[in-house]
Amino acid sequence: MLPSMKRADAAQRVAELREQIHHHDYLYYAESRPEVSDAEYDALTRELRELEASFPDLVTEDSPTQRIGGTPTDIFKPVEHHAAMLSLDNATTPDDLREFEARIRRALPGATFEFVCEPKIDGLGVALVYEAGRFVRGATRGDGRTGEDITANLRTIRSIPMVLRGALAGATVLEVRGEVFMPRAEFAKLNHALEEAGTPTFANPRNAAAGAVRQKDPAVTARRPLDMFLYHVSRADGLVFASHWDTLEALRAAGFKTNPRAERCPTLDAVVAGCERLERDRDSLGYDADGVVVKVDSLEQQRRLGSTTHHPRWAIAFKFAARQATTVIEKIEVNVGKTGALTPTAKLTPVELAGVTIRNVSLHNEDEIRRKDIREGDTVLIERAGDVIPYVVQVVLARRPADSRPFVFPSTCPACGAAAERAEGEAYWRCTNSACPAQFKERLRHFGSRRAMDVEHLGDSTIEQLVDSGKVKDFADLYELTVEHVAELDRFADKSAENLIRAIDASRKRGLARLLNALGIRLVGERVAQLLAAKFGGLDVIAARSEAELAEVHGIGDEIARAIVAFFQEPDNIALIRKLEAAGVETSAPIAPAGPKPLAGKTIVVTGTLPTLSREAARELIERYGGRVTTSVSKKTDYVVVGEAAGSKADDARRLGVATLDEAGLLALVRS
Ligand code: IVH
Repeated sequence: MLPSMKRADAAQRVAELREQIHHHDYLYYAESRPEVSDAEYDALTRELRELEASFPDLVTEDSPTQRIGGTPTDIFKPVEHHAAMLSLDNATTPDDLREFEARIRRALPGATFEFVCEPKIDGLGVALVYEAGRFVRGATRGDGRTGEDITANLRTIRSIPMVLRGALAGATVLEVRGEVFMPRAEFAKLNHALEEAGTPTFANPRNAAAGAVRQKDPAVTARRPLDMFLYHVSRADGLVFASHWDTLEALRAAGFKTNPRAERCPTLDAVVAGCERLERDRDSLGYDADGVVVKVDSLEQQRRLGSTTHHPRWAIAFKFAARQATTVIEKIEVNVGKTGALTPTAKLTPVELAGVTIRNVSLHNEDEIRRKDIREGDTVLIERAGDVIPYVVQVVLARRPADSRPFVFPSTCPACGAAAERAEGEAYWRCTNSACPAQFKERLRHFGSRRAMDVEHLGDSTIEQLVDSGKVKDFADLYELTVEHVAELDRFADKSAENLIRAIDASRKRGLARLLNALGIRLVGERVAQLLAAKFGGLDVIAARSEAELAEVHGIGDEIARAIVAFFQEPDNIALIRKLEAAGVETSAPIAPAGPKPLAGKTIVVTGTLPTLSREAARELIERYGGRVTTSVSKKTDYVVVGEAAGSKADDARRLGVATLDEAGLLALVRS
């Protein structure tokens, strides 16, 4: 540092640095469009820290260096809110929304209404107080009148500005409200880290956020990735706004983060449509939302409508369909998968969840059962979120039967009785019997599945009978079946036997990539199979490659290469391949011709619904022209192709400054 620097110069520079850091915080955290690199930002913070170390009397509470500066507390001081933090009345159907409109029409006869719709964030309501544009206090909702002082913890949230700009900075006292939440991706990372550390995980992002906000030590909160959307100005001495929409704009201009999905709706029909759109998109928002808050836009009308002791009359919460429910685990069943893994499934008392009846949920493995201490007879909370498969969130311990016992995971194969083993560092118990019929049935089912050899009419009961009768002992045996063999099976007329044989015959020509996928080589799925087929063109060629040669292919790592070599070292597998060849199954593929590759070396993420290309078609197109498709956006991503209802990935792109394209842009790039 500059020991000779004069205090006055230091004060000047400190002010400049703070202004710059606030500005970059705003761009990064609120607008997701940084203008400087992390390194440049860090340099500014470092310089400020050093100056403050040399001139400690220049340190102020709202300095960006003080975000984690608070000291641990034992209790949170009570804080009286400027105005009560009320609840919201609920609507569950469009009719409820129309009823709401009818109510406000009766209350203000002759008035016409406009509305604002915003996602109802499933987080924690928080009130922030600013005096002359500086953050002075933040509090939880508490009982609505008195909350708890969590100022030190809130300071660690980088999207909360310490110093305001714009019109709101001019209010002598300002109280604003919003929702603190943990983004889903951050929640997943946090739980993963907690799991690795062997500490209990959180059931959902809301609980994780609540835990973080009420941390006794702000340094812990600082490590929890929280964020905040603002949605209400409850006091702004010296300022007047006409509409809720205007207050949202003022909040944004002041440096707060407001929800980009907020929408102004001129009619109730538009409100209903907006609610439906948000419900449809709820999984791609990047955070949990449990509904839509519908608000009368005019603040004058809001004032005239007033509130009950419980909720404002000018707003209503449209709740999304519930996706959590409780039910009872009647039994825990353990089955054998195609690699011999023993997988536990909970058989549930059937329960309706978001329009689907749920009878089973996978419990994944022994550790998962142990971690959540899931037992037969337990009442459990299950969740089904969008395209996520249903899972057990937690056991409702209060309803655990008195005679309940921990579940004991079997150490023998439930299908063939052979010993099961769980190797060091592995999550799964596996059946050690390579001839286990249950395992083979699963592998045969995969072999014939649509994305593998696509053998129509090869259903579960047929597989069951073919294997149990000893007619099919390996994949190649399928190709030796005759109509007569099949007609001997239960429920097979000659006609359907012919259909099956014809389908098996047709599968001979599926090509190398599908065959590779169908073989069930460990770690070789559809993608890797396609890479191998395009690169090497023949099963024999692949079998003759070393680990190092295989790992040279982009997209094939050391572990996959090892698994492939291991497969071809097994004499039984080589014998199987000879048998398949002899049966006339195609084991080669043309190697992709070297056309123009305008996307060579480019990493691309596709998100949202594109107007004409399916997700799969977009991927094929990108790969055909030399690009690589990944699922998450990082600084190394070259382009993000954004379709309709794109969620957090589009935000990530903006935040990281990654170029975005629409479908037309992608096609133009390919043609270039
Ligand atoms: S407005 C006086 N807008 O929902 C009106 N609330 O059930 C105050 N919430 O306590 C509420 N997202 O914590 C509003 N966009 C949003 C919201 C929202 C979540 C929470 C808030 C409130 C609770 C009511």
